[in-house]
Amino acid sequence: MTTSNSPFRLDGKTVLITGAGGGIGRSMVEAFLAAGASVIGADREAAMLDGLDLAHQILCDQGDPKSTRAAIEGHLSQFGVPDAVVSNAGFTRAEVLEHLDDEIWASELAINLNGAYALTDPIIKAMAERGRGRVVFISSVNALGHYGNPAYSAAKAGLVAYAKAIAVERGGHGVRANVICPGSVRTPAWDHRLEADPTLLDNVLPHYPLGRMVSPLEVANAAVFFCSEAASGITGTVLPVDAGLTAGNLRFVDDVLRGK
Ligand SMILES: NC(=O)c1ccc[n+]([C@@H]2O[C@H](COP(=O)([O-])OP(=O)(O)OC[C@H]3O[C@@H](n4cnc5c(N)ncnc54)[C@H](O)[C@@H]3O)[C@@H](O)[C@H]2O)c1
Repeated sequence: MTTSNSPFRLDGKTVLITGAGGGIGRSMVEAFLAAGASVIGADREAAMLDGLDLAHQILCDQGDPKSTRAAIEGHLSQFGVPDAVVSNAGFTRAEVLEHLDDEIWASELAINLNGAYALTDPIIKAMAERGRGRVVFISSVNALGHYGNPAYSAAKAGLVAYAKAIAVERGGHGVRANVICPGSVRTPAWDHRLEADPTLLDNVLPHYPLGRMVSPLEVANAAVFFCSEAASGITGTVLPVDAGLTAGNLRFVDDVLRGK
């Protein structure tokens, strides 16, 4: 059970969450509020943040690193540096190699990697100057093995390398950085796929050892943990929150060895 002096609580702390209006982002806002934190929500347009209980809002298009950096620097100079940042905004449409060209590759790298760098870099510098900070990147199982979406996957793998650089180079300044790799989560990110094939989720479930996808809240809870004192000794790690997907190949075991 958590109490107010539990190391799992975040009372009095401030966390900046990007993509706060999305499926996982909304659950993150709820989970961080429930842990006692106040939340700054960032997203690409104000309507995305409707209905959220936020201390502040930051609007920026992460596909444009220059304006993203400017928006964050403006926020930092006005309100100071938050205790934690969760870099959660992300986007992909190019499902397989045939869907890619130079422009789409560049745009998926821009949103998922370059924009995440532009957004977190000024925050991490300010955290290092203060001598304390927690950083969480929402990457994907796609950073760990190939599950489609090649450009997005390259960007998500880039976030793992970036988080490790922060952990190693800024650890001496009190900054911890960790990565969460969700498996499939039913959020608006799946809407376009389900519009094309409403039965698609039936094909997803047999890949997952827990027999289900993870929920947005399960991803959010891992982020709360990484930002809390309960994770004070943990930095530079990569945590799959994936219902067992990356533990092995369930379809191989079922189809080949069990002959199901
Ligand atoms: N849903 C999944 O199956 C799944 C699996 C693994 C990882 N993830 C990752 O989890 C994170 C959250 O995804 P989600 O499932 O909640 O998706 P979502 O589409 O519901 O939310 C994505 C959020 O990112 C924001 N965003 C997208 N493009 C942006 C841009 N150019 N500038 C600023 N903000 C932008 C959106 O406005 C939205 O708030 C993403 O990084 C995603 O890659 C999701």
